[in-house]
Amino acid sequence: MKLTVISPTYNEAANVARFVQETSVALAAIDYEILIVDDNSPDHTWLVAEEIARRDPRVRVLRRMENPGLGPSIIDGVAAAKGEIVACMDADLQHDPGILPTMLENLLRGSAVVVGSRYVDGGDTTEWNWIRRLESWIATKTAQVCLGVKLKDPMSGYFVMRRQDVLAVKSQLQTKGFKILLEIIACLRPEVVTEIPYTFRPRIAGTSKMSSKVVVQYLLQILRLSPIGRRLSGRFVKFAVVGGSGVVVNLVVLATLVKVLRSGDWRLSAASSLVAATSNYILNNMWTFADAVRKGRRFVVGYFTYLIVTGVGLAVATVSYASMTWAFKRIALSPGELTPSTMALMLFQLIGIALGTFANYELNRSVTWPTAVKQEVQQLQLVPATPSAAIDQIRTEQPEASR
Ligand code: GDD
Ligand code: MN
Repeated sequence: MKLTVISPTYNEAANVARFVQETSVALAAIDYEILIVDDNSPDHTWLVAEEIARRDPRVRVLRRMENPGLGPSIIDGVAAAKGEIVACMDADLQHDPGILPTMLENLLRGSAVVVGSRYVDGGDTTEWNWIRRLESWIATKTAQVCLGVKLKDPMSGYFVMRRQDVLAVKSQLQTKGFKILLEIIACLRPEVVTEIPYTFRPRIAGTSKMSSKVVVQYLLQILRLSPIGRRLSGRFVKFAVVGGSGVVVNLVVLATLVKVLRSGDWRLSAASSLVAATSNYILNNMWTFADAVRKGRRFVVGYFTYLIVTGVGLAVATVSYASMTWAFKRIALSPGELTPSTMALMLFQLIGIALGTFANYELNRSVTWPTAVKQEVQQLQLVPATPSAAIDQIRTEQPEASR
């Protein structure tokens, strides 16, 4: 079989029959199947689709019971597809099935991805009010600027690809968001992408599932895929979170010692930092570097390695604390007063921590948990660093009708 049209549905009972009918007309000359991927819709879309499938052997239904969502539905649809080419399109008839043959033709002529586009010449969004237009414009620009994507309609949910290409990057895709196309392009880095214009039609029946949650997911997706997001790897974020918890531990211990011993001595600062470093080591070993975890003897050796490596930062923190309290006493204290206020001491400690943190991540990553670096290098070879550089060639084709 040549083509599988994958159409995710959620509460589209009123649209699915007409969708199948219009798509079948558009594909009359092509060897195809239509795969409706339904998230067990409360309005029984799956049942309506199963009825259609009983009469039309070209229609199949995948009823999903777990992990609901537009992205996961498309990926499951691709996995279940029989065609060597897959077309993803909405079931609410907003995507014009009329351009499917042109899209297919372009794929066969050498494009890796063919996108149904509202924003190339000949494309349009009918009946959108200015707010909807502005929202779409902002979302599109964000993707183009943050990811360097040259696609005119990177938000499109309408695209045609080879099934094998999607499967090749499947394990790298984070499919939670609505915008599965962006995700696939970021991972696959296709050389030739073509955009085919079409008019995004108004919804005939049912309601859109676009929500503020979808928008937030989209923004997080952009952040994650952007060059900055890629550099701020999950591991560094964890390291920073552990560091943040260490700051709290450090300040609480110091405040307690200052109160109990009624002193602002630098050794109390050093002791607090040591307690914080110990809790940081344990948390980093369990969580940040869980993939390179140290156990038994290696845990103890790792602790001292961590202290030595972190010692650079600890020394910086302690020395800055000592110099600041010294300077403060000389400059700000009136005769008779012995120590700066607890608040001032906390501030000195915080500044010291900030100064001492810079070297910690890089040093510990490479010295204390070296196996983690090896794993990162392997991952880097799998995941390209800049998603967008790939799309150097974008072509626009006019559909037959408008030529
Ligand atoms: N299986 C499944 N699970 N399907 C879903 C889900 C879900 O959680 N949420 C939505 N769908 C289906 C809808 O039933 C519809 O067929 C399609 O996905 C698109 O959902 P809409 O709610 O109609 O989205 P939209 O019209 O606001 O936005 C669409 O068009 C835009 C322009 O191309 C989406 O395709 C966007 O991704 C796209 O940017
Ligand atoms: Mn829609």
